[in-house]
Amino acid sequence: MAAIWKIGSNEADHYPTLTHHIDADVAIIGAGITGLTTAERLAETGLSVVVIEALTVGKGGTGGSTGNLYSILASGLAPLRKKWGDDIVRKVVTSRSQAIDYIEEAVERFGIDCQFHRRPLYRIATNEDKKIVNMLDAEHEAMVLAGLNIETIEDSPLPFAMERGLKIEGQAQFNPLNYVHGLAKAISLRGVEIYENSPVRKVDYDQGIIETDSAHVTVKHIVHATHTPKGISLLHTMLLPSREYGVSAKINSDVYPNGIFFVHDSFHSIRSYQHENEQYVMVIGEQHKTGEGDLNNTCFDNLRDYMGNHFEMTEFCHQWSNQQYSPADSLPYIGKIHGQDHAYLATGFSGDGLVWGTLAGQIISDLILGEENPWHASFDARRFTPAKSAMKWAEENASVSKSLFKDYLGTKKLKEIEEIGRGQGKVVSAGGEKLAIYRDETGKLSALSAICPHMMCLVHWNGVEASWDCPCHGSRFDLEGEVSEGPSLHPLAKRDPPS
Ligand SMILES: Cc1cc2nc3c(=O)[nH]c(=O)nc-3n(C[C@H](O)[C@H](O)[C@H](O)COP(=O)(O)OP(=O)(O)OC[C@H]3O[C@@H](n4cnc5c(N)ncnc54)[C@H](O)[C@@H]3O)c2cc1C
Ligand code: FES
Repeated sequence: MAAIWKIGSNEADHYPTLTHHIDADVAIIGAGITGLTTAERLAETGLSVVVIEALTVGKGGTGGSTGNLYSILASGLAPLRKKWGDDIVRKVVTSRSQAIDYIEEAVERFGIDCQFHRRPLYRIATNEDKKIVNMLDAEHEAMVLAGLNIETIEDSPLPFAMERGLKIEGQAQFNPLNYVHGLAKAISLRGVEIYENSPVRKVDYDQGIIETDSAHVTVKHIVHATHTPKGISLLHTMLLPSREYGVSAKINSDVYPNGIFFVHDSFHSIRSYQHENEQYVMVIGEQHKTGEGDLNNTCFDNLRDYMGNHFEMTEFCHQWSNQQYSPADSLPYIGKIHGQDHAYLATGFSGDGLVWGTLAGQIISDLILGEENPWHASFDARRFTPAKSAMKWAEENASVSKSLFKDYLGTKKLKEIEEIGRGQGKVVSAGGEKLAIYRDETGKLSALSAICPHMMCLVHWNGVEASWDCPCHGSRFDLEGEVSEGPSLHPLAKRDPPS
């Protein structure tokens, strides 16, 4: 399931697998927008920098994003204002605005061909639902308070009815995959070593050693630019992992949604993208907690129906999904890891992480260089905010406990192996353990331990993406058991399938 960016992406450079021992000043784990921005800021400072990526550059959250860059938050500034007050709303908008400027400058400086354009952002209510109207009013007030210039619009910029709308000029869009490919190329020319297909399996902070399957790196500074920190971290109890889906289609109409559209029906994000004189539109939505989704593709069917009901289109071309981690107190966690002076993380970006990731790259590089950063204190990963986090923390941890107890007690015994159809997976009790069993399209069975190596929850079958997803902290595993996302450092253990 590839995101739409595949069609417009420049042929990416390929980077080697790490197979030999390295000494470096800084090791950055993860080559998404956070890791590469951090590396870019450290290149040419005299520090030796290495970036180690489990997959390939941009293949994580960055390459699955929608490529929208905005200074507000998709979930709204008004809820943030209610929780944190006016000052933080101004700081969020100002810091995010300068991060967008930073991306624009990098695009220019490195000549990155990623279709960066300044575009307006619209928040649109499609009906007069009182809750939505009040929400838009509160958003309007919070945006004005943050110094943004807001226009109230009366005509729908989309080919469907609108009741009310707000417009903010000066936001931006780009092709996120081309941007990070461009950054990777620029920094590798400036001496940063990048390694792909090299999952990190162990991080030893005391010794300053990072291990992959076939090599290790000895370093002074370690950066987790992995979307959520790897291994065990208290922060995992503060993050709600969820999945969201996207579909795209070629459009056959003069009405293109030229901008960023947050549509307040059940919430959809819409944007267009041009490639070789063809106009595409993408619709994103259908969010649910990781490990608890539907198994029958209804998420894609719903998005396709939505697109078909609202646009004149010729054909659907791509469908994909992506993960996000929402922080308990509504702000991202960026900075030093608790108890560590030379280890850093950046997480809790919700669906706004292209901009947060860029800001995180600025903050973490300043921390490594010992320079003041004006935004660090507001987003410090070591903050303790029990009152502001309480509600989400309680919800998230109730859900983890439910997963642990319900799954362990409720897993059915495998009576008939035939009950697993072709192309299907199932978690069952067999031979005294919990197994994740999959039958491929040829009828061949494979089995893995169903116990997530992160903190022992049981994985769930994800029939939409053919993966094993852990509902506790969002680790996801492919059919071979290899980690494709989330905090787990290790794959699911292989087992013999029961006969
Ligand atoms: C559907 C959807 C749409 C979105 N659209 C937008 C948008 O329009 N605008 C916006 O601002 N945000 C958007 N987001 C959020 C955004 O995608 C992310 O927040 C952002 O890409 C995070 O960047 P990152 O560099 O921190 O993480 P990633 O891009 O995920 O990079 C982390 C990297 O770490 C690697 N890694 C993980 N484990 C290891 C390991 N053990 N060893 C080595 N490497 C490892 C991964 O392979 C990955 O490449 C969207 C999110 C979703 C779900
Ligand atoms: S992701 Fe934490 S237990 Fe699975």
